[in-house]
Amino acid sequence: MNDYLAQCFAPKNLNGLALKNRFIKAGTFEGMSPLGSVSQALMDFHNRMASGGIAMTTIGYCAIENDGRLHENMLYMHEGIRAPLTAMIQSLHDRDCKVSGQMGYGGGFSKNRQLERKRPLGPSFGINMLGVAQGMMFCDAMTQHDIDQLVLRYGEAASFMQSVGFDCLEIHFGHGYGLCQFMSPKTNRRRDHYGGSLQNRMRLPLQVLESVRKAVGDDFPIIGKISLTEGVKGGLDYNDAIAIGRMLDRGGIDGIVTSGGTSTMNPMIMLRGDNILQPMLKAEKSPLMRMMLHLAGPFMFKSYPYEELYFLEQAKRLRDAVDCNLIYVGGASTNNSFATLMETGFDFIQLGRSLLIDPDLPLRSQQEPDFRSRCLHCNECIATIEHPQGIHCPRTNNLSTDREFT
Ligand SMILES: Cc1cc2nc3c(=O)[nH]c(=O)nc-3n(C[C@H](O)[C@H](O)[C@H](O)COP(=O)(O)O)c2cc1C
Ligand code: SF4
Repeated sequence: MNDYLAQCFAPKNLNGLALKNRFIKAGTFEGMSPLGSVSQALMDFHNRMASGGIAMTTIGYCAIENDGRLHENMLYMHEGIRAPLTAMIQSLHDRDCKVSGQMGYGGGFSKNRQLERKRPLGPSFGINMLGVAQGMMFCDAMTQHDIDQLVLRYGEAASFMQSVGFDCLEIHFGHGYGLCQFMSPKTNRRRDHYGGSLQNRMRLPLQVLESVRKAVGDDFPIIGKISLTEGVKGGLDYNDAIAIGRMLDRGGIDGIVTSGGTSTMNPMIMLRGDNILQPMLKAEKSPLMRMMLHLAGPFMFKSYPYEELYFLEQAKRLRDAVDCNLIYVGGASTNNSFATLMETGFDFIQLGRSLLIDPDLPLRSQQEPDFRSRCLHCNECIATIEHPQGIHCPRTNNLSTDREFT
């Protein structure tokens, strides 16, 4: 085994958290939390990931409050789920796996039928792309009071998550969700001190980071997932990512996860491989949403053929610009790639699809010198997000990730 590959299996600390190797399960919303509950399926899913040898798993999209959910079948952080969440995290700890929680807030993008407010809240008034089929046509602009409340909610959610046993928090700053909507000149049209210059657009994300840090203390790992580019005209680009990374680094973040794209405008840049439009059309039940997908799909789902390590060149630029840990994500699926990432100076590697198909990836990668994930990057798993039994790789012949590849 070459030295760089061997480094993947060496432990490393993330602000005091001892991780046994460099493999972290990326946040992939599991679709296993009906009406916001912690289901047995969710526990089984992460337990299965843990037994494959990852150092840390990420519970995908943990909304910081009820109205921060994209829909009602997502977790949100509140006392009602304390017992099952604590039990799930304990069972992952028993399997020698640390647990990160992805802190999500959808902003002006929601189809949550249990929304308490009249409309979802983003930086600016506009169309709520996700809610149209539910009759939730618009989102409102946040007032200063809404912003102050949101910052407080992040802090409260962080305290709750620390108290139930999470080892690390991952603030979602990317993919077009709430904080990203503030960061992006495409979606933030505010004229107050939260809009305009990048410094102003970063004000809320940095206040959120400060609030989360204050809640959990200096010795608790906080990482943030960003979009290196949104991949849309007038949106955040690769140069912005350098400035954003530096601001987060100065703001005291412990690590940055280097993703890209937005779920609403350009998801394919994040999920390179086969186009997800056809599988999404097949899975969509609402005729109105299907019609919208037919109309908007070709603009939204552009072609980005799969390449191994597709964010490497741009993530490397960030490596040179920041001191905090860098956590690479995007098309890492072979031993060669894992070694390259260590050689380039990344600290950890997040894995999404390659763990869905091969939960034993870390163990196999250590045993098989020429390991390559079986993932075909067909992206059919994306269309299983709203499947009654949650996400899975349809290329395996059952719903659990355990059985044989067909
Ligand atoms: C089924 C599925 C669900 C996903 N859900 C989320 C999510 O909830 N939050 C997030 O930040 N990224 C999500 N992603 C993106 C992954 O975290 C990751 O950035 C992406 O899959 C690229 O990494 P990979 O090439 O290792 O799969 C999802 C990806 C997949 C395949
Ligand atoms: S469906 Fe399976 S093979 Fe296709 S991208 Fe997802 S994990 Fe990979």
